[in-house]
Amino acid sequence: MTSYVLVTGGAGFIGSHAIVALQQAGHSVLVLDNLCNSEAQVMDRIAAITGVQPGLIVGDVRDETLLADLFSRHNIQAVLHFAGLKAVGESTVKPLEYYDCNVTGSVRLLQAMQSANVRNFVFSSSATVYGEPQHLPLTEDHPRQATNPYGHTKIVVEDVMEALYHSEPGWKMARLRYFNPVGSHPSGLLGEAPRGVPNNLMPYVAQVAAGVRDRLHIFGNDYDTPDGTGIRDYIHVMDLAEGHVQALHHCLAQQQVLSTLNLGTGRGHTVLEMLRAFEQACGRELPYEFMPRRPGDVAACWAETSTAEECLGWRATRSVEEMCSDAWRWTQRQYQLEDERAKAASLDS
Ligand code: NAD
Ligand code: UFG
Repeated sequence: MTSYVLVTGGAGFIGSHAIVALQQAGHSVLVLDNLCNSEAQVMDRIAAITGVQPGLIVGDVRDETLLADLFSRHNIQAVLHFAGLKAVGESTVKPLEYYDCNVTGSVRLLQAMQSANVRNFVFSSSATVYGEPQHLPLTEDHPRQATNPYGHTKIVVEDVMEALYHSEPGWKMARLRYFNPVGSHPSGLLGEAPRGVPNNLMPYVAQVAAGVRDRLHIFGNDYDTPDGTGIRDYIHVMDLAEGHVQALHHCLAQQQVLSTLNLGTGRGHTVLEMLRAFEQACGRELPYEFMPRRPGDVAACWAETSTAEECLGWRATRSVEEMCSDAWRWTQRQYQLEDERAKAASLDS
């Protein structure tokens, strides 16, 4: 009987890249996604890269009946839990949706796993749990502090995992705190496709490069950083994806474990440095304008990565140049496809 890794949120940005890495490491994957921020065709694109179509179950992680059925029908060895809502600003407007999806969703999933005696669990946490840095680089023992409901949902799920770990033996779990995931699969077939105006820097820059937005608004040029703009630890999504495979293998190899690991590069780049790198990738200057600081932003944030290196034998290797050139390939392909669809529609009418 095939043994599966269940990937919740596997049609989304990070989950889809993780599936590629999982399949390339020899794992069979099942996906549970309600497609609230993604589309089913992502599975075809994964298949075009790896040659294997992952099975997609369209449904919600909060659906107890569906989860019980899923765990009873399939031999699931482990769960990688990406499904959730992730927009910081939206979480302040719709906190109940965020707690329900992110916290209730995680609890229901862990309950279903407990009932089915599946005890390998890898969770998408975030560097946002650190709040305002008290020291840099950020170590995993840095105090946690939520500055918005989204960040708080991550802290709560981390705590739920801790309580569960101590309540009964045999759980093997990793809490992965991502820094700033960017870039795309180098094929240009997978990438980040935010709906509406992008909140995050790199998708916004990509849309300026594609001519969809007229200029980048840089939030703050008066930070205490070399060029005054904010510093973040940008990590290529394929490095992040491979980190998940290593985290899964780390769990599978233990009798029981609860690990908390930063996944970043350990290096910070300013907004202007990222913009320049993207200009190199797309081959032209990109317009920008300085704006006031964005409320809630920190000046600088980057990871201490030695815990992940020691625990997982993993470290990020891809450069900022690769992050930008891969993201640009994906962006061009997206807009080329949109143009082709529009042309086909106008021929039909
Ligand atoms: P994404 O929105 O692209 O992917 C999330 C996926 O989960 C989507 O396909 C969505 O349809 C699905 N989903 C949402 N709610 C669901 C539900 N209740 N049931 C089933 N499916 C559901 O986001 P992403 O960038 O791939 O992020 C994945 C995870 O990583 C999230 O938990 C996010 O909070 C976390 N994270 C992301 C970042 C980032 O910058 N992208 C940083 C830190 C942590
Ligand atoms: N920025 C701009 N203009 C934009 C967007 C962003 O100047 O249009 C700046 C921000 O001010 C910041 C930097 O670019 O200095 C990065 O901003 P992002 O919004 O891309 O990323 P954040 O670090 O603010 O937050 C992201 C995710 C969070 C996650 C956090 C840490 O959105 O969910 O990384 O992993 F928690």
